[in-house]
Amino acid sequence: MAGNGVILSTRYEYQPEAILGKGAFGQVFLASVIKPRGPITGSEVELEPGTKVAIKMVPYDTATMSEKEQSRASNEVRVMRRLNHPNVVRHFDSAIWQKHLYIVMEYIDGHDLSTILETKRRAHEVIPEDQIWRWLVQICLALHNMHSRNILHRDLKPANIMVTKAGDIKVADMGLGRILTQETMAARTQCGTPLYQAPEIISGQAYDNKVDVWAIGACLYEMCFLRAPFVPRNNTQMALYRQILDKDIRFPRHITHVSEGLKNLITSMLTKAPDRRPRLDDVFQYPMMKRYLVALTPPKDQSAVVSNYDAEAHSMERENKRLKAENEKLRRDLASTRAENDALVAHVNQWKAFWAKHNHQVAASREAGSEFFDAAMMLAARRMTPVSPSSRARGSHMNAYLSNGTQN
Ligand SMILES: Nc1ncnc2c1ncn2[C@@H]1O[C@H](COP(=O)(O)OP(=O)(O)OP(=O)(O)O)[C@@H](O)[C@H]1O
Ligand SMILES: [Mg+2]
Repeated sequence: MAGNGVILSTRYEYQPEAILGKGAFGQVFLASVIKPRGPITGSEVELEPGTKVAIKMVPYDTATMSEKEQSRASNEVRVMRRLNHPNVVRHFDSAIWQKHLYIVMEYIDGHDLSTILETKRRAHEVIPEDQIWRWLVQICLALHNMHSRNILHRDLKPANIMVTKAGDIKVADMGLGRILTQETMAARTQCGTPLYQAPEIISGQAYDNKVDVWAIGACLYEMCFLRAPFVPRNNTQMALYRQILDKDIRFPRHITHVSEGLKNLITSMLTKAPDRRPRLDDVFQYPMMKRYLVALTPPKDQSAVVSNYDAEAHSMERENKRLKAENEKLRRDLASTRAENDALVAHVNQWKAFWAKHNHQVAASREAGSEFFDAAMMLAARRMTPVSPSSRARGSHMNAYLSNGTQN
């Protein structure tokens, strides 16, 4: 910043006009472009004199940074400048001056979501669900765009979600985590409240873009119930950490205007284990998300979205038919297996009855046979005559017959 309060980058001069807000670790000014200072290269956005911009000022001490860190940060600034998505606040320019980084970005004439939520809370009003879905789709689109470029937000919260006067979403402070040093980010996290931080960040584990899904879930909860999902009674940071790590998500019982579909989505986005938490691609599969995605698309692009949607609906219909046919075949198979089974049971029962009758007959014959044999033996013994071979043969024949019958 020059002595007269003007902010100078290598490309433009900016005149600060007002403070738009203060964050945990810096502030944001409204400024206007005075004039260019250097040539604009092909990929850079040209700013007309008088254009309103927002300039974020954060502590940035290059003296404590290695050369590698500095070149990584300026590389990240370039990456951010190339990002261009309707739901992401654009980065235009940046400057480093007296241990501060000035990030020049698109000025959003509107309000941040934390202010909107506070106003609703005070007025005892709710945000209609239709509005919530429309905002949610745009927030997801903004983050999906970043994730597809391997950039995390890492600090998504209502204060970083801007709503324009037209009611559209612009996510701010995108990629700041990649520009600022680890120490500055850690200090910001300590100064600010970790209400929207995922369990894996709090517990110091490795993390990926699922941390942003968690943060969207936490913001979504707050849009529905006008309070953060985890609010410890004694309001200490430690108690909040414990709730984020261990406490199951609960919905206030007295609030009935939020649909089950929306509650289910919140619950899945606030799944503690990141590997079981959905990705944004999965979130877009929710039927309501699809519906609002189509509604959001400008009319000239709607046909493409609708035809994609139709193609998907057709393929689902085909799959449904195939499953129905398979189901029908399985039902027929089951019926014929049942009939076969019944026939088999009847057959076995017939055999059981046969063998019961047979065994009964065999037992009766054995009794008769042994009586006959015993009588013959007794007679033979009395007469002192040897047992005739034919009667012995008849006995063994009978025994073989009996044992076969009982064995079977
Ligand atoms: N591009 C912008 N256009 C208009 N207003 C903005 C813009 N960016 C930020 N603001 C306003 O400035 C406020 C402060 O922003 P800042 O990013 O410094 O703080 P924060 O988001 O609350 O916290 P943090 O420092 O953690 O990001 C925001 O809440 C918002 O109201
Ligand atoms: Mg911010």
